Amino acid sequence: MHMGRIIFATGNAGKIREINAIMADTGMEVVSVKDAGIQIDVEENGKTYEENALIKARAAAAVSKDIVMADDSGLEIDYLNGEPGIYSARYLGEDTSYRIKNADLVSRLEGVPDEKRTARFVCAIAAVLPDGRELTVRAAIEGRIGYEEKGANGFGYDPIFYVPEFQKTTAELTETEKNEVSHRGKALRLMKEELKKYENITCQ
Ligand code: IMP
Repeated sequence: MHMGRIIFATGNAGKIREINAIMADTGMEVVSVKDAGIQIDVEENGKTYEENALIKARAAAAVSKDIVMADDSGLEIDYLNGEPGIYSARYLGEDTSYRIKNADLVSRLEGVPDEKRTARFVCAIAAVLPDGRELTVRAAIEGRIGYEEKGANGFGYDPIFYVPEFQKTTAELTETEKNEVSHRGKALRLMKEELKKYENITCQ
C-alpha cells in the first residue's frame, strides 16, 4: 500500500516519531506541518476532542494537497467530573510546569480511595482527505491517579497516571510499551484502518 505523504498538524517531534513508527507498514511518510512548510494558527475552541482535532486538520488541509491529520487529547479524572479534559494543556495555564499541575491534581484527590481515583487519557484523531472527506476516531487508556509523581519517561500527566495492568505509571513505561497501550497509539491504529478502507475505495 502506498499513499504518499501525511501531514500531521503538530509541532511535537515526539508525536511525529511515534506516528511514523505506527504507520511504517503502510509506506506512508508522516511529516509535521512545519517540515511541510505550512504555518497554521488556530484557536482550539471546540467542545470535544474531535472538534479540536478537526479544527487543526482543516486549517492545514486548506493549504495542502496531501492527507492531513491532527490529534487532540486530554486526561479525564472521574472524581473531578472529567477535569481537566479538553482543557488539559491549558489547566492552571499553558506555561505552568507539570510538576505544579500534577501536584495540584494529586492534592485535589487527597483522601480519595483507590477505587474512586479512576481516570483515562483520551485521544481523538481527525483526518482530512484530499477529496475533502473527513474522518475521526477516538481511543482511551484507563488508569488511576497516583499519590505522587513516578517515572521520568513520557510527558505531561504521565507521572501521575497509574496503569493497573503494568503496576506502573505511563512515565515508567518505555516509549514502545506506552505506544502499544496508549490512547494515541490505539487511535492511530484505528485511523490507519480507516485510511486503508479509503485506499481500497480510491483504487477501485
Ligand atoms: P494536545 O492534545 O497536544 O492539545 O494536548 C493535550 C494535553 O493533554 C497535553 O498537553 C497533556 O497535558 C495531556 N496529555 C495528553 N496525552 C497525554 C499523555 O500521553 N501523557 C501525559 N499527558 C497527556
